[in-house]
Amino acid sequence: MQEQLKQLQQEALDKIEQAQELKELNDIRVAYLGKKGPITEVLRGMGKLSAEERPVMGALANEVREAIATAITSKQEHLEQIAVEQKLAKETIDVTLPGRPVRVGNHHPLTAVLEEIEDLFLGMGYQIAEGPEVETDYFNFEALNLPKGHPARDMQDSFYITEELLLRTHTSPVQARTMEKHEGKGPVKIICPGKVYRRDNDDATHSHQFTQIEGLVVDENIRMSDLKGTLEVFAKKMFGEEREIRLRPSFFPFTEPSVEVDVSCFSCGGKGCNICKGTGWIEMLGAGMVHPNVLQMAGFDPEKYSGFAFGIGAERIAMLKYGVDDIRHFYTDDVRFLKQFKRA
Ligand code: DAH
Repeated sequence: MQEQLKQLQQEALDKIEQAQELKELNDIRVAYLGKKGPITEVLRGMGKLSAEERPVMGALANEVREAIATAITSKQEHLEQIAVEQKLAKETIDVTLPGRPVRVGNHHPLTAVLEEIEDLFLGMGYQIAEGPEVETDYFNFEALNLPKGHPARDMQDSFYITEELLLRTHTSPVQARTMEKHEGKGPVKIICPGKVYRRDNDDATHSHQFTQIEGLVVDENIRMSDLKGTLEVFAKKMFGEEREIRLRPSFFPFTEPSVEVDVSCFSCGGKGCNICKGTGWIEMLGAGMVHPNVLQMAGFDPEKYSGFAFGIGAERIAMLKYGVDDIRHFYTDDVRFLKQFKRA
C-alpha cells in the first residue's frame, strides 16, 4: 500500500510537471485528489489494516496529498505568470511611435465668405437681420415696388407654393420686414445673409438655390456717396486694398437710382485679361437708393428719410475670390474640392 501511494505521487508529480495549461492542471487535481481519485480509494482500504499500521498509512496518505496539492498550486502560479507575461507582451505600446494625424476640418468656402462679410459689416455697426425663406408675395414683390403683373417680376423666376406664398427669390423682402419693425423711425442698418430660390436650370453659373447678402441703411441724409464709400470698403476687404469700384446705371424696381457695381480686376489690375473679359472690370453686385415707394410702404416718411440698399451674391463673390469655375462645386460636397480651402 505504501508503494502504491509513492507511485501515485510520482505519477501525479510527473503529469503536473508536464502540464502546459491551467485546464490540464485542474483535470489532474480532480483525477488525483477528487472523491473518486486513487488516494481516496487507498484510504478507503485502511479499514483492513492493523491498529499500528493505520496512523502511519494515514500520515503518508496526507503527505502524498499535500505534495500533489502543493505541486499543483505552484505550477498553477507559474502558468498564470506566463499567461500574464504573454498578454503584456502582446499589448505592449510603443510610446515612441509617431501619432496618427488628426484631420482638422475647415470652413466651407461659402461659410468662410459669409462670415468674412458679416464680420466686416458688424464692424461698421450693422446688425444681422433674418426673414423667412417661405415668403409672401407681398414682401417678396409688392412691398418692393413690384405690384402684381409688373414686368420686372419676370427677372426672377419663382417657385410659387400658393397664389400668395413662394420661396423668396431674393433677400430684399427682409428690407421691408425690418423697416416695418422700426415703425417709421431710423436709423436702420442691417445686412441679411440667407438662402434664396429661383426657378432656373442649374449650370456652371446658375443654381435653383443660392445665397445672398442684403444690405440696407435708412436714416436722415443718407446719400449715394455713402453707398459708394461702403461698397468701396467692401471691395477692398474682399479683393485687396488696391481695388477700385465703379457704378453703372441699372434698374431695380426697389431702388432709384439703381446701379450695377463693378470692381477693378484683381487678376490683371485693370489692364484686361480673361477673368474680366478684357474690360478690366468685374461685375460685383446690384445696389441703389431705396425707392421712395418702398420707404413709404414700410412706414417711413420719404421726405424725411432716405436710404441705400445692395444685394450681394455670396457664391459669386466666393467664385471670384477663390477662382471657382462652377457654382455647383459649392453644393456637391466633394471633399477633394472642400479640402483646398484651408482654415484661416
Ligand atoms: N434683389 C436683387 C436681386 O436679387 C439684388 C439687389 C439689387 C438687391 C439692388 C438690392 C439692391 O438691395 O438695391 O436681383
